[in-house]
Amino acid sequence: TMEEISDEKEKMEAILINMADGVIALNDEGMVIHINPVARQMLSLDEDITGQNFSSELKRLLNIDMKQLLSNDYDNSETLIKTKDAILKSIYAPLKRENRIVGHILVFQDITKQHRLEAMRKEFVANVSHELRTPLTTIKSYTETLLDGALEEAELSRQFMDVINNEADRMTRLVNNLLELSRLDNRETRWDIRPMDPGDILKEVITKMNVNIKRKGQTLKVSVPEKSPEVFVDKDKIEQVFQNILSNAYKYTPEGGKIFVDLKHADKTVKITFKDTGIGIPKEDLPRIFERFYRVDKTRSREMGGTGLGLSIAHEIIQAHDGEINIDSEPGRGTCVTIRLPAISQELARAD
Ligand SMILES: Nc1ncnc2c1ncn2[C@@H]1O[C@H](COP(=O)(O)OP(=O)(O)OP(=O)(O)O)[C@@H](O)[C@H]1O
Ligand SMILES: [Mg+2]
Repeated sequence: TMEEISDEKEKMEAILINMADGVIALNDEGMVIHINPVARQMLSLDEDITGQNFSSELKRLLNIDMKQLLSNDYDNSETLIKTKDAILKSIYAPLKRENRIVGHILVFQDITKQHRLEAMRKEFVANVSHELRTPLTTIKSYTETLLDGALEEAELSRQFMDVINNEADRMTRLVNNLLELSRLDNRETRWDIRPMDPGDILKEVITKMNVNIKRKGQTLKVSVPEKSPEVFVDKDKIEQVFQNILSNAYKYTPEGGKIFVDLKHADKTVKITFKDTGIGIPKEDLPRIFERFYRVDKTRSREMGGTGLGLSIAHEIIQAHDGEINIDSEPGRGTCVTIRLPAISQELARAD
């Protein structure tokens, strides 16, 4: 009946309007017989082009050869299209009735996100390989020099062994950091969460680092209250975060510089700041500073034995604690890293 037909048509229309993919249907002469809103939006078409042929501009964008399409030997079933702000996958299928082609259908999927993830994955693998190869090259060439005769000279041998040892240490740090990140990524990290005063953890880290800081002639000013609200933390992980941030302040601040560590608590958060008077980070590097392997100066970081993963690990751990980590910096003046952790609410503590 008519009613059923119109139902079918409405159903079809509702599906086309609501689907996440863009759809364009052409008749056998290449005229648009349907285009859904998503397709129009994806292709930035202001007007409804139903009843029209593709403009030359659209043909170019879609990478479609109309002559080929209409002669029915169009076999380009999947193509990538770069629009102004997206990457689309276009899938072509002929519309057949009784083995005769009566039209053409193009489906568009927005694959911008997958594309970006894929690019990031490739970059990560390239970075890892490079970071592993650098120390390996050094180890190999120093070993060869030793075997070629340098071994006879005691003092030189010691120096070379020292370099080899340091490079091996760096590779170990790198692999450990990578394993840690991969556990965090795959949610395989076993968290040992307990209520703790973050100030106590902070004081422990400071005690451990203090020797190095003093040796470098830096002054360390600490302002941590006797007692602060407890937070739910994995002690080892938070210790690692504090250690990473404080060692950055120490590493990237010249001799005689100052480091300030400060813990305050507002109503619902505990705020920890690490401030230094070091070399700072240029504004343009700040947005990417938590990315894996991102470093302002690769050579300098490597010379200091850095892996470029310290901040990314800190970021992941703080996020897993429902906290926040921010960094602000000015080249030549210094850097300030702020960590915020949610304090255990008083009511909850009383209910205990
Ligand atoms: N306090 C700081 N002052 C100046 N630059 C900093 C500071 N903290 C971090 N950076 C910059 O950010 C980069 C990334 O830091 P991150 O801790 O992730 O790696 P790294 O210190 O190079 O290596 P690792 O942490 O393994 O020793 C550093 O290479 C450095 O360029
Ligand atoms: Mg670091």
